[in-house]
Amino acid sequence: MVILFSNTKGGVGKSTLAAHLVLYLFDRGRRVALVDADKQGSSSQWIAEAEPSIPIRQVRVPEAAAESVVQLRQTHDYVVCDSPGDDNDVPRTLMLLAELALFPVGPSILDLRSVAIAASLLKYARQINGGRPQGRLLLNKIRKRDRISRSLPEAAEQLGVPLLESRVRDLEAFRDAAQQGTSAARMQRARGFAKQDIEALCDEILRVADSMDVDAAAEAAHG
Ligand SMILES: Nc1ncnc2c1ncn2[C@@H]1O[C@H](COP(=O)(O)OP(=O)(O)O)[C@@H](O)[C@H]1O
Ligand SMILES: [Mg+2]
Repeated sequence: MVILFSNTKGGVGKSTLAAHLVLYLFDRGRRVALVDADKQGSSSQWIAEAEPSIPIRQVRVPEAAAESVVQLRQTHDYVVCDSPGDDNDVPRTLMLLAELALFPVGPSILDLRSVAIAASLLKYARQINGGRPQGRLLLNKIRKRDRISRSLPEAAEQLGVPLLESRVRDLEAFRDAAQQGTSAARMQRARGFAKQDIEALCDEILRVADSMDVDAAAEAAHG
């Protein structure tokens, strides 16, 4: 299963959530690898520090992105990809190879509009691949004062990308986790909210991924 974190907008939490999903899977005994296409290399540094045994590929060109994903998915249950914030051949290639594409966004309608480029990339890949990958928006960095507009799920639907139910709050623990090369769920001190949010999110992501596996198996059996 290839899971991609994408969005041409920077600072939305692609690397943070990709690193957290990788560690969540690792901590549950899944075979997981990371493909980091972001020039900053933040998720690969993070994972190298947190769990040196997890395979990491840093990719800068589409050929390397394709080769890494195709190789790693033969030997791993999950390949998590961290896409760069620009729109070029690398994110396009990753989108074509992904089975599930996740788009972190902030809670406002404006943030949602900014995901339009990413949504068109998703549409492009789905047209070529016959409906793959599935896309989901996910709300990250929610602050107390944010009022999540009721029209948000509707706007997401219009964009053609459903919204995951789990929401991740804006919490210091996620910034600390990056600095300390660990996950908010693994941290010793009382980090209840961050742990709750990230585990609920990762559980939901896996439920979506598993239901896609079931669909694919049914299709294969009938085809
Ligand atoms: N839920 C969150 N709570 C607090 N800070 C967050 C959260 N998600 C991301 N951040 C912070 O926001 C900044 C951008 O996140 P990052 O994962 O690097 O985004 P991207 O990869 O999309 O550019 C980082 O400083 C990160 O620590
Ligand atoms: Mg990043």
